[in-house]
This record gives sequence, C-alpha cells and structure tokens, in this order.
Amino acid sequence: MADGGYDVADFEGVDPRFGTVQDAQRLIDDAHAHGLRVLLDLVPCHTSIEHPWFREHPERYVWSGVDGPANNWRSTFGGPAWSPDPHGRGRGWYLHSFYAEQPDLDWRHPDVAPAVGAAIATWRARGVDGFRLDALDRLLKDPQRRDDPPAHGPPPLPEGFADVRALEHRHSRNAPDIATALAQLRAAAGDDAFLVGEVYLPSRRLGPYLEHLDTCFAFELLHAPWTAASVRRAIAEAVAAAPGERMSWVLSNHDFPRLPDRVGREQVRAAALLLLSLPGHVFVFQGDELGLADGPGSSQPDRRASDTCRPDRCQTPAGYDRAGRDPHRHPIPWEAGAPHAGFTTGEPWLAVAEAPDGPVDVQARDPTSMLGLYRRLIAARRDLRGPLELLDAADGVVAFTRGAHVVAVNVSAEAQPAPRAGAIVVHTDAPEPGGPAPTTLVPGEGFVASRI
Ligand code: NOJ
Repeated sequence: MADGGYDVADFEGVDPRFGTVQDAQRLIDDAHAHGLRVLLDLVPCHTSIEHPWFREHPERYVWSGVDGPANNWRSTFGGPAWSPDPHGRGRGWYLHSFYAEQPDLDWRHPDVAPAVGAAIATWRARGVDGFRLDALDRLLKDPQRRDDPPAHGPPPLPEGFADVRALEHRHSRNAPDIATALAQLRAAAGDDAFLVGEVYLPSRRLGPYLEHLDTCFAFELLHAPWTAASVRRAIAEAVAAAPGERMSWVLSNHDFPRLPDRVGREQVRAAALLLLSLPGHVFVFQGDELGLADGPGSSQPDRRASDTCRPDRCQTPAGYDRAGRDPHRHPIPWEAGAPHAGFTTGEPWLAVAEAPDGPVDVQARDPTSMLGLYRRLIAARRDLRGPLELLDAADGVVAFTRGAHVVAVNVSAEAQPAPRAGAIVVHTDAPEPGGPAPTTLVPGEGFVASRI
C-alpha cells in the first residue's frame, strides 16, 4: 500500500483487507447478472518490492549494472529512478519509474510477458471482461539506457516535480518498439477483452497503443485549462488521433485535483454535459456524479516522496499518499445519517466526503441534483450518434454537433450567445426536456438539443 495498491505483491490474489478471491468472484458474477461488465486495473509495468518475484526472480527486473544509478532517469514522484537493492544481496541498483517500493519489470526479458500473462489469464477465467492497463508508456525503455536530454519548454502533459519537468523523457518512456509488449498483453487478454490504456502522452502519440488496445485515455482534455479555446483544441486533437469513436474521455481521476477544484464549482455541470456528450468511451471518476470537491489532506508532496526505499520506510500507512493525492481520493457518501455515510461499516482510511447536494440517497430523489443530471446525460448518450463536428461558436462557448444533436456549453464567466438549436434533450439546470433551447448561455450553462 505504498501507492494505494499500485504496488502489487500478488497479481492473482486479493488483498485480505478487501476480501477474498471468492468475494471478487461473487462481485464479477453479480455484476454480470445485472448486465454490467467488470474491468480490473492491471499494473504490468512494476510490482511491489514485496512481490516474491523481486526476491526470487531478479532477472525479471531492470538493474543498473553499475554500483549506482545507470543514468539520469527520474521517478515520476521526483528523485532518481534508481535505488539500491533493499534485500542487500549485492544485486546493485534497480529501476523504479514510480516509488522506490515499485521496481520496474523488464519487459525485454522473455519470462516477464508469460508471467504477467498468466495473471491476466487467471482473471479472464474468473470472468473479468477487460483491463485498465496502468502506466503503459513505461513498459519498454531504451535498452542502451541513454540519459534523457534536457527539456526545451514545458512537458507535453503536466508533471508534478521540477526535476521530472527538467528532462525530456525520450529514453526512459515510450520506447519506439513499445508495440511488441502491447501485442503480448493483447494476446494474453484475448481479442474479446476490453483494454483501455493509461498512457500519459498527448493523443497524437497514441498511435501504436491504439493498434493493440481498444482505447486510451485522452489526457489533454483532463488537463486543458478551462477556456473554450483549449477545450476545443484538446477535443479536436483527440478526435483526430482516434477516429471511429475510439477515445476514452475522462475529466477526473484519483491522481489529479477534482473537477470543482480545477474548473470552479459553477462549471461542473457544464463539464459533465460536455464529457457525456463526447463520442467514444467515457470514464466518470467516483464522486464526480455527486459534485464532490477535493477533501482534506495534504496536496503538498511529502519531501520523502522520492526517498530511496529502506525496509523501515516500505510500510506507508494505508490511505496516505506521499505524492499528495489524498485530497482527490475521499470515498463517496451513500446514505444520510448512516455511520460513515454508509460507505463502510469499518473505518475508512480517508474521511467520507460531503457532497453539496447531499449523499446518493438524497440526490437520487432529487431530479435537480448533480446525480439527476448525470442520470439524464447517461440516458441521452445512447441516442447521441455520429461523429463530432466542432461548431464555430461564440468566444467562451464550446459547441459541436453529433448527428441530429447540437451540444453547447458556456465555459466562460460571462453570458454568451448560444448556437441555434431546436428542442432541449438535456439541460444543465432544468430537469425537464422538450422546451426550446436558450439563445443565451449564462456561465456554466449548457444543453444537448435537437438540430434545426
Ligand atoms: C498511474 C496510476 O493512476 C497512479 O495512481 C499510480 O501511482 C501510477 N500509475 C503507478 O502505478
């Protein structure tokens, strides 16, 4: 639990804190009985330092070969990406693209793909329908271990640490032959598995990933400054990179500040309407559908975030993230008046968040709530067909057509003229459909309407 579970000590088991394999099996079977499919988050790039492979199969990991770091590569969480073997067996220094508790697997070693593939096969046999594949651009690196060159200008996507921003990650990430590892993951999962790549690259560089995966997250939209120009640009680039509705859109996840903290409370309904009107796949981060903002906890990275792992440091209290991501991870409130708002009968690591419109049971009865809006958007989404065509709209307005529909949101702080449209299908603020689309949009207002 040094990285909220992204440090896996057993790919095929279930951490006893969460239950058993039988519990997981019941969850999968019940989900299927309800017509739901189940994706697991698979972490193929690294294991936990506590995984038995790290002790017993050092050949499956990346070692520096010299008594110290092999080069200038940095860990995503700051500091060198190389640490000395904590088992003190004279094996030298190992590579970790993330925390020191997460040694990188060597996907150039012939045993690694079959070993991870066996875990994939086990979960597929248990009925899992697909995987979110973590940190895929770190799977293969430069075999010559060349230094990363200094960066010229800002990174293509935001990086949290100054020493990481100072380098262009030409050799430590996204090797030119990445497709060979992706093909191995696809072969292990089977053609009918749904695979979504967490690839921290701009959309235009996702080509090789989209050859083998069903889809990848479009991170530019998540990081786009909330202005019409940058939102339009992020959408246009992602649509161009993944034609045929192959992109996965996401506006929040467990690694970055929540929506109200990024776009402002008055814009969260517009953000929801925009997100759920885009072509392709949409991922809603737990709590966005209730309007949750960041919760308490430090968002400042701990100065020890990049410390080399020592045995006394390898235990991080569960629910404490050294990179400062706790505020984005509070659990959601289900039931008014229940202990921990019905999230658990145990003790949550992080306090259950409070939602402005109340917990799920209250919002579910209130069509004007954020949850009510999400439900209407999800229902309407089924009829939104056809490719996205951006419209030439007023400054401050993002507008596009999808087949027979017009979508428009005012992402600015001033009232703006709306594009011409017919009858309302979904409106950010009024639960009833059917009325005429407004001709002016106040800040944060948006609609899906029929085209005229
Ligand atoms: C991406 C995950 O989203 C993040 O939470 C994690 O720290 C890294 N990958 C490392 O697994």
